[in-house]
Amino acid sequence: MKKIPSGIHGLDKILGGGIPDRGVMLLSGNCGAGKTIFSLQFLMSDDPGVYVSFEEELDEIRETSKLYGWDLEKLEKENKIRMLKYDPFRLEDILEVVENNIREIKAKRVVFDSVAALGVHMKEPSELRRMILQINNIMKKNKCTTIIVSEILPGSKALSRFGVEEFVSDGVIVLENVEKRGEFKRALAVRKLRGVNHSRAIHTYNISNKGISVSQSTFR
Ligand SMILES: Nc1ncnc2c1ncn2[C@@H]1O[C@H](COP(=O)(O)OP(=O)(O)O)[C@@H](O)[C@H]1O
Ligand SMILES: [Mg+2]
Repeated sequence: MKKIPSGIHGLDKILGGGIPDRGVMLLSGNCGAGKTIFSLQFLMSDDPGVYVSFEEELDEIRETSKLYGWDLEKLEKENKIRMLKYDPFRLEDILEVVENNIREIKAKRVVFDSVAALGVHMKEPSELRRMILQINNIMKKNKCTTIIVSEILPGSKALSRFGVEEFVSDGVIVLENVEKRGEFKRALAVRKLRGVNHSRAIHTYNISNKGISVSQSTFR
């Protein structure tokens, strides 16, 4: 199985070599866990990439990205990145536009941030499941490696917000805040990765002005 570098310092080893090429990874976690930073860092490789936001304003994302030394506007001008923002309903129409953007810049990496925003507009989880499958098909057809972001509500032990996202992904990475002696520690775990002997440990990770880095040692 071919792997591509995640771009996250320390993560590829934990993943057993990197992110599966053309795979769809679910990135789940609480609010403030660093999912958006993680997703942008994944797009900072040499591969052209598309970032689809269903929540945050693009100008806000462009501004905060500067804190990590990422010049999105420059990359956008060079057609290395496309930043797209949509209201989270009518996904069918959205996917057609996303696909056009992928083709225009020959994107290899795509991020959807986040499907929680899609799910709250749906009547039942099966609808979200169907939509993620649709995203999955279109991304595979275009030979893209994809990160789908989902939220986990505070206190929930689930892997995703609606409980269906993990079943239609090739892999699941969970970012958590774990309370330890009066402070919250950041913890990352790979909870699923089809056909890969990945780390089963809980790893600490850190966010700094260089982005996210993951420690090889086990969380204590
Ligand atoms: N330079 C930094 N140093 C340390 N922590 C940071 C830094 N920048 C952001 N963070 C942390 O990252 C969080 C925001 O990350 P973000 O990717 O927007 O989270 P999410 O998308 O999961 O809600 C902040 O709440 C803060 O805890
Ligand atoms: Mg976010």
